Amino acid sequence: MRIRQKTIFDVIEEEGTIFKDKSVFTTEYIPEIYQYRDHQLDSMAFHSRKVKSGYAPYNMLLKGTNATGKTTTLKKYFQLIKEAYSNVFTVYINCKIHRTEYQIFSEVYKTLFHEDIATLNTYNFYNRIMDYLTENKIILILGLDEFDNIKNSIELNRTLYDFLRAYEEYPDVQISVITVSSSKNITATDLNVSTIHLPIEIGFPFYTQQEVYSILKQRVDLGFYPGVISEDLIAYISERAYRLGNLRIGIKKLEHAGDRAEYKGHYKIEKADLM
Ligand SMILES: Nc1ncnc2c1ncn2[C@@H]1O[C@H](COP(=O)(O)OP(=O)(O)O)[C@@H](O)[C@H]1O
Ligand SMILES: [Mg+2]
Repeated sequence: MRIRQKTIFDVIEEEGTIFKDKSVFTTEYIPEIYQYRDHQLDSMAFHSRKVKSGYAPYNMLLKGTNATGKTTTLKKYFQLIKEAYSNVFTVYINCKIHRTEYQIFSEVYKTLFHEDIATLNTYNFYNRIMDYLTENKIILILGLDEFDNIKNSIELNRTLYDFLRAYEEYPDVQISVITVSSSKNITATDLNVSTIHLPIEIGFPFYTQQEVYSILKQRVDLGFYPGVISEDLIAYISERAYRLGNLRIGIKKLEHAGDRAEYKGHYKIEKADLM
């Protein structure tokens, strides 16, 4: 009997031995059950109470080191507030990718109008967006994640200025900006911006080792078949992620170890797969 060599297609299509749902290990994954950030979410909700009377929430700044759940919390908050209030529009912008005022305007435009107009300049974007918000009584919440990455502080200041001072030209417009930062030294804003920005700071402390463990355990339960990894190994990975102060490393470790074990055709992850 001739044994046919496996093609790339065969390998990709093969049923795995380890992963029940690999998507839970991706960076885009938003956990359905989201623990340990109730305090931050409650605080964000508290500072959004004005939306029920048609006003924009307070500006907020989500602050904390890497992998403390800032992005996930912002996205959860957006989900929850949009569900509850149909007049609220949220725009999530990753400033690592969209680094200029023009790019940010064009992202907001795309979200509101579901179209991409390459020929508009910032000024045209601005007017169309503000007209639309005012006419339809829409509250805009702009989330600027990783906002220290805006190309330089001139762009940062201009962008914040445009959104936060829009009411000078459009008195009825309701906009709030939620900035997210992982850095200790947040890029300085101009005086004419900082006097109006004044965000409420929401802190994201490190997770405790126990919290890291239970977050990783939740991913294991969602992502692996039962019995794939022992409690001891989960504890081992948690401890390392905790010591490095980075939950994300723990999640990646689980995924890579799973990949290794699956590649070998094993049904269990061993310590050697963690290296
Ligand atoms: N409380 C939590 N429960 C479950 N997963 C979490 C929690 N906090 C963070 N994560 C996960 O850890 C990773 C990093 O979180 P993220 O929100 O991107 O952090 P940050 O934006 O602060 O760097 C993501 O994969 C996220 O799903
Ligand atoms: Mg983030």
